[in-house]
Parts: sequence; C-alpha cells; structure tokens
Amino acid sequence: MARVVSTAELPADLSALVREPVAIIDPARLPESLAEAEALICLLTHRVDAALLDRAPRLRIVANYAVGHDNIDVAAATARGICVSNTPDVLTDATADLTFALLLAAARRLGEGERLLRAGAWTGWEPGQLLGVDVWGRTLGVVGLGRIGAAVARRGRGFGMEILYAAPRPSPMAAEVGAAHVSLEDLLARGDFVTLHCRLDASTRHLIDTAALGRMKPTAVLVNTARGPIIDEAALAAALAAGHLAGAGLDVFESEPRVHPDLLTSERAVLAPHVGSATTTARRRMAELCASAVRAVLAGEKPANLVNDEVWPRARTAPAGGVGGAAR
Ligand code: DGY
Repeated sequence: MARVVSTAELPADLSALVREPVAIIDPARLPESLAEAEALICLLTHRVDAALLDRAPRLRIVANYAVGHDNIDVAAATARGICVSNTPDVLTDATADLTFALLLAAARRLGEGERLLRAGAWTGWEPGQLLGVDVWGRTLGVVGLGRIGAAVARRGRGFGMEILYAAPRPSPMAAEVGAAHVSLEDLLARGDFVTLHCRLDASTRHLIDTAALGRMKPTAVLVNTARGPIIDEAALAAALAAGHLAGAGLDVFESEPRVHPDLLTSERAVLAPHVGSATTTARRRMAELCASAVRAVLAGEKPANLVNDEVWPRARTAPAGGVGGAAR
C-alpha cells in the first residue's frame, strides 16, 4: 500500500512532484484506502470527516485540492494531530476573472442572447432587444474581502465601480482596493452587483435567503463563485422568476452536480459548472501546492498553506515500527 494516496489524477505528475509513488484510489473506497496512508490528496467533492479519519491511524496530512475546505472536518483533523492544507493564491486571479465573466454575462444577458442565436430565432437588430444593466460606474458589493474578493474588487475598480464590502471584521486589503466596510444589509440595499466570496460555514449557510434577496434592488445582479449553499437556491430561483432581481451568475450550487430545476430554466441565470479555478496554470499550481505540502509533512517539516496552524506543535510524526499517531 502506498504512503501517499490521491482521490483523483491531477493535471500534473503527482508522484514526480511528491517524489514518491502516489496511488490513485477510488473515492468510494476511501476508508479502506486510508488504513496505511500517511498522506491524502483529495478533491472538494470528497468529504473527510471524523469517522473517516478514525479509519486512518497513520494519516499525517490531508492536502485539499482547493482553497475552500468545507469538505473537511478541520477540528476533527486537528484533534487527531493531522495537518490540513489548501491551495490559496494560485487560483485567486483565475477565480476573480470567472467572477467578472459571470457578472458581465448576467448583466448583458449573454446566455439568453446565445440561446436565441443558436436556436436560429434571431431576426436581426432591434432597439429593444435583450436590454441589460450597465456595469461601468455602478456599485459593486463584495461579501467577504479576502484574496478572491479583493481581486474581484480590483477588477471592479477597472470598471469605475464604487466598491462596498461586508465582512465580520475590517479587511486589511480594503484600503488597497478602495473598498468601504458596510453592513450586509447596507451592501444588499446599495449594490448593483453583489458577489459572494465568504467561506461556507454555519454562519454563512443560506446567508442569501428570501429576506436577503428581498433587500436587493430589482435591477441588481447576484454572483456566486464561492460555495453553493451560501445561497438558498430555491429562494433565488423564486426571486428571479418574480423579477425581484435582474440576473444571477452562478458557478457553484447547493447540491452539486445537481442544480435547482427552476434555475436551469431561468433565462436570467447564467450558469457555469464550478470552473472558477479552471485554467491550465491555476490547476497545475494547485497540484504543485498539494504535492509540496505532502512532501513537507513526510519530511517532518511544517507545510506552507497549513489550514490548521494550531496542529503543528503536536502534529503526528512518522509511524514508528508500524504504529502511527505518535505526538511530536
Ligand atoms: C476552490 O478551490 O475552493 C474552488 O472552489 C475550486 O478551485
């Protein structure tokens, strides 16, 4: 059995990057595959919870091939001395670009236009056809001003936008991107575009529900490239159907790969299949970050991009004589 296992082939030669064999395992057989493993590289679609970790007595690191790590019970990992790493920075600009692509596409009704054309139903230029909302000079509300939120705000500045942000604490990046800290209520009421970049946790699940949508302008566009469950999808579909919102650009969904049927048929929703970080460069660099984190932990070194920093002084060390779990 390999010391290092991965739930998927990544766009890089993992074994070369880790500098030892990496076994690609069937995610359905994760519990059995972790009996001997010291390192796991996994996708955001794979749940790593306490019950699974209990089946992994030698595991020293879970390297998540994503920046978001809501698929991992980080507290359970920390309690067992297991490091958790993620892939920040390398996907920031790719995700911010995709966010802006969705924002523009929803504002200018590109999905509807493309469907019209492809259906052969376009009869020519008309003064009132597919009128959208202006982007230039409008107000952009960023929920969560971390790396990606700030990168989106920078793009907004390039479009002459006023930038507001809502977050539990003031962001150190606010001054650089010229963003004003406001309450979520204020942001929803004032934003012509509202874009979500907060983490998914208990406090943000369904942050955008019927009440929140009701605070938004009927001309506003909502964009989500963070995590699907931050939006109550049924409430959003109802708001779009009722004309309470001009549009939505969505890259993430509540129960991926399923999408609420009313969103699938909504003309005003521009939908993408969770491709925020899907550029060749970003995905390759994400693989490199996973590999370097695994390599570091196996060498007894603290990995960069450790999510649970507090684990380090007592992280699991190499199993001695076949027994894992010794404390540092
Ligand atoms: C992430 O990294 O969290 C994205 O959702 C996928 O790249």
